Formats: sequence, structure tokens, C-alpha cells
Amino acid sequence: MSANVPPFAVISGGQVQQALQGREKQIMEVVEATYRLHGAGDSVNPPSYFLRFPDRPADRIIALPASIGGQVRVDGLKWISSFPGNVAAGIPRASAVLILNDHDTGYPFACLESSIISATRTAASAALAADRLSRGRARPTRVGFFGVGLIARYIHTFLTGTDWSFDDIGVFDLSTEHAAGFRGYLEQTGLPGRITVHRSAEDLIRSSDLVVFATVAGEPHVNDVSWFDHNPLVLHVSLRDLAPEIVLASTNIVDDVEHCLKANTSPHLAEQLTGNRDFLDGTLDDVMAGRVTVPADRPVVFSPFGLGVLDLAVGKYVYDEVTRSGELHVVDDFFHELRRYG
Ligand SMILES: NC(=O)c1ccc[n+]([C@@H]2O[C@H](COP(=O)([O-])OP(=O)(O)OC[C@H]3O[C@@H](n4cnc5c(N)ncnc54)[C@H](O)[C@@H]3O)[C@@H](O)[C@H]2O)c1
Repeated sequence: MSANVPPFAVISGGQVQQALQGREKQIMEVVEATYRLHGAGDSVNPPSYFLRFPDRPADRIIALPASIGGQVRVDGLKWISSFPGNVAAGIPRASAVLILNDHDTGYPFACLESSIISATRTAASAALAADRLSRGRARPTRVGFFGVGLIARYIHTFLTGTDWSFDDIGVFDLSTEHAAGFRGYLEQTGLPGRITVHRSAEDLIRSSDLVVFATVAGEPHVNDVSWFDHNPLVLHVSLRDLAPEIVLASTNIVDDVEHCLKANTSPHLAEQLTGNRDFLDGTLDDVMAGRVTVPADRPVVFSPFGLGVLDLAVGKYVYDEVTRSGELHVVDDFFHELRRYG
């Protein structure tokens, strides 16, 4: 039996980066296929588990177990920390690993650095939603980034890597330093588009027809429904920025209904306010399959809770790429004593 135990590999952030860099279109296809599998029920994606600490209320570590069928056929777990205080200390807020488990034996066969995989799948999902949700309306040419940390950069990379170009790029962040840093990043890409750092949230939203929220806000801070009178497409990646009244005045698309209506996300607050889910129009898979049509005369809000199946699918893509390149670092004898029965 021991011959069937897969070797255990460790894949570093550098290897992950190399496997994913410049592959925006392929990764978006992986994410799209995964949403379809998930929509068809060929996945298991239980609720995320939030480990919190009474003495450190700002910090958390989230476990996202998942299983994916189809041709990918892999199980696993993402284990991702958010320690906001890290930023002041000069290191990134989030850190993560992804464990892949073998479908047949259950054995873990890889541990991957996963902050890059997580940011990548989040950005690929946002770019996919931007494309699919704007098909029934004029394609946005003015993008506004609300909160410009790591995720905003990845989303910009994925949008431009999947053929989006913009006449205007707006930037708003509570930190002037972060806003200036993001402007510098945009300038250094050399891509066309007039860059404006806005002084107010209202200015940014009113002057954007594609708005990307990627803040770390824990509760709504955008409350005025009239700021959305021009019916923008909103990628609400940080999930807790919008007052429930704005959610209720919009078409709402999520990645997974049960996941998204939890943990005080803005859609969860809207459910608590109204006592029902009538404001939800469907999932991105519903839109891709043509079961839901997105009207052009209302704001559209995409709220992706972030599914563990996406991490698994992108992680398996990385594993296969690293294996193909011959650079897989296997830890010999990771599993000790494989003959325990006789
Ligand atoms: N839905 C998903 O699948 C998913 C996946 C990954 C990350 N996220 C979320 O994306 C968000 C961004 O992550 P990140 O790694 O880029 O964080 P980050 O800390 O690198 O950047 C966040 C930025 O938002 C700014 N900000 C915070 N509050 C603000 C406010 N009220 N108004 C304007 N700017 C504000 C901060 O100054 C910072 O520049 C987090 O909330 C994270 O949980 C969601």
C-alpha cells in the first residue's frame, strides 16, 4: 500500500509567483470552470472557520476547507491569517498556506505559500465578474479603486491582463501614502489612462463606472445611495463597505449565497434589515449560465465571499505547473513509518 502514498512537496512563494505571473487569462478560465463546477454541485465548500482571539480582537486566522471534483479532483485547506498590526511593523497583513490532499488516499501531498494564490484567485474572480456583469451595459471605461492595498493591485493586474483598458483610473484611500504608492505603481505600468487621486469617497464613486472596493473596513462607511445614481458596476471585494440601503437599491450578485450572507457582510446586514433575501438576484454562475440577466438601469454589486474551492483549483494549477517544470521540491520521508499493519 505504501507505494500509493504520494510524495510530499513544499512550494515556495517564489515558485508560486513564477507559475502564475503573466497567466491572467488561463487563471481566469480556471476560476470560471471552478464556479461552474461549484454551481453544478461538484464541490464541497463548508463554511469558513474564523479563529479569533479575545486578547487580540483585530487579528484572525481563517480555515477554508474544500473539495473539488471534475478533472481537478483534489481536497484541501487554506489557512490564512490577517494581523492588521503587521502593516505598521513593515510586514504584510496577510499570510497563508494551502494544503492539497490526495483524492484517493487523503494524504496531504503539497504545502504551498498561499498569500499569492489567494490574491490571485480573488483578482481573477473580480475580473471575471467585471466581464460577465458588464455584458448587458456599456463596457466601463472609468475605473475607481477604493482602498488600494495588495488586492487592488492584483485586481488591476488581472483587469489589464484580460484586455481591459481605461480612459480614467481613480484612486481613493484613507492613507495618502498608500494612494500615492498606488499612483506610482500605475504610472510604472506604463499603461494608458488618466490617473486621479480623489480627495473624497463621493468623488471617486461618482466619477467611476466600475468601482472596486478593497478596503479593510469592518462596517459600512459608504451610506449615500445617491452616489450610485449613475448605476456603476461595483466589485465589492471587501464585503463590508456598503450600507444595506445601497445593497437594497442595487442588483446583487454573489459567488455563493450561503457563504455571503454571513459574518456581517453588507448583504448579510441587508438580510437582517429586511428579514428576507429578496434583494439577491443570483450567483455569478447563474449569470454565466444565462439563468439571470443583469439590468443596465440599476447599480450592480458583486459581493464575492471568496470560496476555498478557488484556492484549491488555483493551487492545483500551480502544483501542476511546478511539477511540469521539474522544480518540485519533495520532502523525502515526510511520512514516517508507512508500514504499520504487520
Ligand atoms: N472576498 C474575497 O474573496 C477576498 C479575498 C482576499 C481579500 N479580501 C479582502 O480584500 C480587502 C483588501 O485586502 P488587502 O490585502 O488589499 O488589504 P491591505 O491592507 O493591503 O489594503 C487595504 C487598503 O484599504 C485602505 N483602507 C482601509 N479602510 C479604508 C476606508 N474605509 N476607506 C478607504 N480606504 C481604506 C487601507 O489604507 C489600505 O491601503 C480585505 O478586506 C480583505 O479581507 C477579500
